[in-house]
Amino acid sequence: MVFVVANQKGGIGKTTTATNLAGILAKRGKTLLIDADPQGNSTSTYQAKVEDVATLYDVIIDTDRLPIDEAIQHLPNGDIVASDPLLAKAEKLLDGDVEGFYRLKDALEELEEYEYVVIDTAPSLNVLLYNALIAADQVIIPLTADSYAMQGIQQLYNTIMAVKRRQNPGLEVAGLLLVKYAGRSNLEKSLYEQIGEQAASMGTRVFATRIRECVKTKEAQKQKKLLIDYAPRCNTTVDYLSFVDELLGVS
Ligand SMILES: Nc1ncnc2c1ncn2[C@@H]1O[C@H](COP(=O)(O)OP(=O)(O)OP(=O)(O)O)[C@@H](O)[C@H]1O
Ligand SMILES: [Mg+2]
Repeated sequence: MVFVVANQKGGIGKTTTATNLAGILAKRGKTLLIDADPQGNSTSTYQAKVEDVATLYDVIIDTDRLPIDEAIQHLPNGDIVASDPLLAKAEKLLDGDVEGFYRLKDALEELEEYEYVVIDTAPSLNVLLYNALIAADQVIIPLTADSYAMQGIQQLYNTIMAVKRRQNPGLEVAGLLLVKYAGRSNLEKSLYEQIGEQAASMGTRVFATRIRECVKTKEAQKQKKLLIDYAPRCNTTVDYLSFVDELLGVS
């Protein structure tokens, strides 16, 4: 099962969601995290190398493309294919190549032993996101309960549906995941309902699990640890655990 975490809005909680999801899934089955964001935040959380090792760049862009197996780093936080700042040039390098959107899908087809793959993406609707959407089974869209939350989601949803129509009929939106949720104000609660209605009108759902904030999230990122290891009982961890149950339909 290949999950992609996507939202073209920056700083929304994609990397936090992707790393926690991968960390929690790894307790259930062999899991690989792929960092498809040139910023490399997941790479840094996993303390993965970027220099002198094969990265996603070598797997999907380089002219002598490497098998994905050779780019997997086995680290204490888990298995990862690291990002590379050079991936920022992907747009230019893959432009004009009709197969340019299928590189990640092709690479994942070579991968056998992993039960789960989680792809972290950049805040943009770029060629790397298309590669991720074409390679994926399910999209998870994190968003916050603020008044701008749904701005941009429709555009992302249209992009996903276009990929589903043309390149990847099996692609599904697993749902919208409310993150950094305080749940204290009435405004937030009414926005939650509003987001639910809009999600339904787009043909998707909002996960019942909402991810609450926790200061330990930032501390864990600073210390380059997974939240489930660093703070197994903080609100954010507890919520990500129930989110994964909900996602996999085990709750
Ligand atoms: N549950 C949470 N509790 C506290 N802080 C959080 C939580 N989730 C995310 N954050 C913080 O929000 C910030 C942005 O999160 P994150 O890096 O996951 O977003 P992103 O969507 O991946 O950003 P980008 O678009 O730049 O890739 C980070 O500083 C992170 O620590
Ligand atoms: Mg990120």
